[in-house]
Amino acid sequence: TRIYVPCDTTALSMGADEVARLIGYHAGAQGVDMELVRNGSRGLFWLEPLVEIETDAGRIGYGPVEPDDVQGLVDAGLFDGKSEHPLFLGPVVDIPYLKHQQRLTFSRIGITDPLSIDDYRSHGGFEGLEKAVAMTPQAIVGEVKTSGLRGRGGAAFPTGIKWQTVHDQPWQQQKYIVCNADEGDSGTFADRLVMECDPYMLIEGMTIAGLAVGATQGFIYLRSEYPVAHRMLDEAIRCAEAEGYLGANVRGSGRDFHLEVRLAAGAYICGEETALLESLEGKRGLVRAKPPLPAIKGLFGQPTVVNNVLSFAAVPFILDQGGQAYADYGMGKSRGTLPIQLAGNIRRGGLIELAFGVSLKEILEDFGGGSFTGRPMKAVQVGGPLMAYMPQDQWDTPMDYEAFAELGAGIGHGGVVVFDDTVDMGAQARFAMEFCTVESCGKCTPCRIGSVRGVEVIDRIRAGENRDANLTLLEDLCETMVDGSLCAMGGMTPFPVQSVVKHFPDDLTA
Ligand code: NAI
Ligand code: SF4
Repeated sequence: TRIYVPCDTTALSMGADEVARLIGYHAGAQGVDMELVRNGSRGLFWLEPLVEIETDAGRIGYGPVEPDDVQGLVDAGLFDGKSEHPLFLGPVVDIPYLKHQQRLTFSRIGITDPLSIDDYRSHGGFEGLEKAVAMTPQAIVGEVKTSGLRGRGGAAFPTGIKWQTVHDQPWQQQKYIVCNADEGDSGTFADRLVMECDPYMLIEGMTIAGLAVGATQGFIYLRSEYPVAHRMLDEAIRCAEAEGYLGANVRGSGRDFHLEVRLAAGAYICGEETALLESLEGKRGLVRAKPPLPAIKGLFGQPTVVNNVLSFAAVPFILDQGGQAYADYGMGKSRGTLPIQLAGNIRRGGLIELAFGVSLKEILEDFGGGSFTGRPMKAVQVGGPLMAYMPQDQWDTPMDYEAFAELGAGIGHGGVVVFDDTVDMGAQARFAMEFCTVESCGKCTPCRIGSVRGVEVIDRIRAGENRDANLTLLEDLCETMVDGSLCAMGGMTPFPVQSVVKHFPDDLTA
């Protein structure tokens, strides 16, 4: 009998280790011949720990299982996948939340043992890399261009064009591949799930990038608050090296690619690509002016591909199935799928991978099941703390980079944070400015000083002092920050503030 108990941070925080231990104990006591697999999370967080048992009818789920439930589950026939228990969920693949997704990047997640390289291979792993090894670098870049993949870190720049820029730099130069794994946006966890639940996929994507542009060294700049991901990645890199997927002469290609994990400095701004590069070089995370672009002068002044975890993670599928197979999903210029992270005040939070084009409303209602508190939902922030708050009349908008931009909103890294009608949107506007005062790198004035003035002026508006004059001042300040800041930190902080002024003015002046 094979039983699965997830081992990612979410499941662990809900007591998965103790559940696994107790299941092992009961199996021993009953003489059940059991193999316990620590899989990754399926991303259905409200069901964690989600225990699965392999049966002739597929994998049967029980959840959320607390340690105190284990005895009762065993008595009710857990080891035979029986249904006589309130936590019985039936076949996991039939749970609507999972069944209605289009999982291309997350296709293996929750199914396999994250560290088993055999499991990875038997579920299609490394097939993209094997194909890439037989291709010219330009053909690899061409496939990524065909896929229409755009940077999933938030800025949505076409990945193939970025790779082309690095590819076109002289080949005798040292080039680098850098993975931005400093996942800092509020409500986001897709990068973490990839690294904890399918680390070989990230390794494969980065190695393909190395072959495509002629880079021989890669770094994963990993959020220091992700110790489980750190352990998984280190172990997976070691195994991948031992099997020839990393290191000298990758799979007989005659080309080398080495990979290391570097722990991040714990600052939000180190997720900005140039501050990240400074930090990787051992310096303080200060933003650099662009140009030059990192693609031309990046890490240690050399041509560098900097992509988010999700961008690299999409690449193995693209090389294996072809760029067109990926481009067949989506709408407009937003091709492929988006791993949406549903969080905040929501009944069913978790990871939902869907083709672009799905509406926010479907995500909130069909998948999320409404607010956690049961109260009406009032606002949704998509794309992190630097993006606009969206009121209910915008929830029909399809998830599409251009459609969101038209509303002055953004999709960013795909995090969706929900608020019910008890939220004070004036306080949220203040929080945006306050966040910037804390996280600003300090290099430019509109951001460093503007955000402090922003908190002050919002406080005055909320206190009822010279309201009209202060609202005009706030507007001016926002414009100055958008136009005059060096990077997205100061340049986008006004977006949530302006969205509150526009859509929730009563909250600001209440
Ligand atoms: P950007 O628009 O300046 O650049 C996007 C990317 O394209 C960069 O890597 C840039 O170097 C590259 N690029 C631009 N032109 C190029 C060219 N001609 N050739 C090759 N490469 C080129 O945006 P930026 O400042 O890098 O990112 C801002 C975004 O970051 C925001 O939209 C926000 O959504 C996101 N963000 C994500 C966070 C997360 O935790 N994932 C946290 C904070 C912000
Ligand atoms: Fe630094 Fe803010 Fe200027 Fe960005 S906008 S360079 S974070 S001070």
